[in-house]
Amino acid sequence: MSQAFDVVVIGGGPGGYIAAIRAAQLGFQVACIDEWKNGKGGPAPGGTCTNVGCIPSKALLQSSEHFEHANKHFAEHGITASDVKIDVAKMLARKDTVVKQNNDGILYLFKKNKVTFFHGRGSFVKADGGAYEIKVAGAKEESITGKHVIVATGSNARALPGVPFDEETVLSNDGALRVGAVPKKLALIGSGVIGLEMGSVWRRLGAEVTILEGLPTFLGAVDEQIAKEAKKAFDKQGLKIELGVKVGEVKAGKDGVSVAYTNAKGEAQQLDVDKLIVSIGRVPNTIGLNTEAVGLKLDERGAVVVDEDCKTSLPNVWAIGDVVRGPMLAHKAEEEGVAVAERIAGQHGHVNFNTIPWVIYTSPEIAWVGRTEQQLKADGVAYKAGTFPFLANGRARALGDTTGMVKFLADAKTDEILGVHIVGPMASELISEAVVAMEFKASAEDIARICHAHPSLSEATKEAALAVDKRTLNF
Ligand code: FAD
Ligand code: NAI
Repeated sequence: MSQAFDVVVIGGGPGGYIAAIRAAQLGFQVACIDEWKNGKGGPAPGGTCTNVGCIPSKALLQSSEHFEHANKHFAEHGITASDVKIDVAKMLARKDTVVKQNNDGILYLFKKNKVTFFHGRGSFVKADGGAYEIKVAGAKEESITGKHVIVATGSNARALPGVPFDEETVLSNDGALRVGAVPKKLALIGSGVIGLEMGSVWRRLGAEVTILEGLPTFLGAVDEQIAKEAKKAFDKQGLKIELGVKVGEVKAGKDGVSVAYTNAKGEAQQLDVDKLIVSIGRVPNTIGLNTEAVGLKLDERGAVVVDEDCKTSLPNVWAIGDVVRGPMLAHKAEEEGVAVAERIAGQHGHVNFNTIPWVIYTSPEIAWVGRTEQQLKADGVAYKAGTFPFLANGRARALGDTTGMVKFLADAKTDEILGVHIVGPMASELISEAVVAMEFKASAEDIARICHAHPSLSEATKEAALAVDKRTLNF
């Protein structure tokens, strides 16, 4: 006898577990299936984000930033820290503890919200009389049914053709978070989000880091002025980023990796390193879902085809997060999860794709929402721009971190905020004000007239809004 549920969620990452909780809050009988195993074979819900993504990467970014501060910045505060060392094993153990706290938190939330959790792989069996039969292959095999199914199976790292991840010398994001000792030389392929974050971690800890990027422009999706400022900071830190390269043969041995490539000038080069991290994007994951059994439509990338509302080609089957179109971000997956649960309940769940923030957690941090200056130009939109440097912000000076700026882009006629771009300290937190403002269709003048605490980094946001009207007060 199959257990019957109103909603079965396949995948317990940020998309799936949030969808399950919201559906349960709305009164549905909900099951969530997730196959991720912790080191002891037990359940580890939270998906890529919790286990090998957002959370562990931020834990290592924090540890490595402390190390760099102790080595390079304590002295200017009059603090002597001699013989500063990094115990990599301890750093990794702390990261694992942070991950486990998050796994356990999700299991607690499932209990609290009466979501039935299944540990194992979920796959479609058949559509039967208004419900879908799902097999769960875990410690034992079970069969459950759901009137609605939410596919939230996430994504996997993309490998270079012919160069599989061995997670010893050729690393995906998974292996990159488990390197047991600081490599002397590290190469990364792809200077996207993972390349910059993971490259920063190991550079701060002492590795000589080279990032090889195929495109001729640095961070093409980022506002050009902001990307340029970030690149300047990374160059100063010694993070070597080579743009416009063409990666050729990659030879991986037990002791290291040799990467042949052509540089932007067309010259043949070879890079010999201890470890190689391949961070060239991610592919949607539907492995083992048995979509053929029910005829769920996938696109040529293997993503589940959905409409704006996350409806798939099948009635009452929904898909969210990394396995569908759109940015591969945890908060985007979560928003889609909430919206789908509400749509199942007959409500009007909504995701505003124009106000999804992006953050790169390097130092300086890079964060943005809305359109870039180059996009506005391409779209033929008349706009006004205002920038304010952290150099002129009192709190940034007190922190000793004055790199970067806040940039506002507003409609030339209506003054509505069209984009906000930040490179600098705590950009990840500062961007929320811009998201709220854009969600409420605020004008730059609205932000310029709101009282911001002094001294705070957020005053740079207010000043950038003032700069749109050319009336900064502190610059
Ligand atoms: P996932 O988190 O991938 O979860 C899918 C889950 O489904 C997994 O647990 C998987 O095991 C399970 N699953 C798959 N198939 C089955 C099946 N058939 N049966 C049962 N279970 C199954 N995003 C941010 O917003 N901020 C960040 O700072 C950030 N940092 C990142 C750092 C790294 C190194 C990486 C790799 C990613 C990062 N991301 C970040 C992206 C973020 O992790 C993803 O966008 C997010 O995890 C997507 O959520 P999801 O629920 O769609 O899928
Ligand atoms: P990415 O898409 O951010 O960057 C990939 C980079 O690799 C691009 O610059 C691309 O031009 C380059 N590239 C692709 N193929 C190449 C090749 N053959 N040779 C050289 N360069 C090549 O992908 P990344 O960094 O792997 O991250 C995957 C996704 O995970 C991100 O897009 C993001 O959605 C998510 N993520 C989010 C984070 C955050 O929000 N802070 C942190 C880390 C990941």
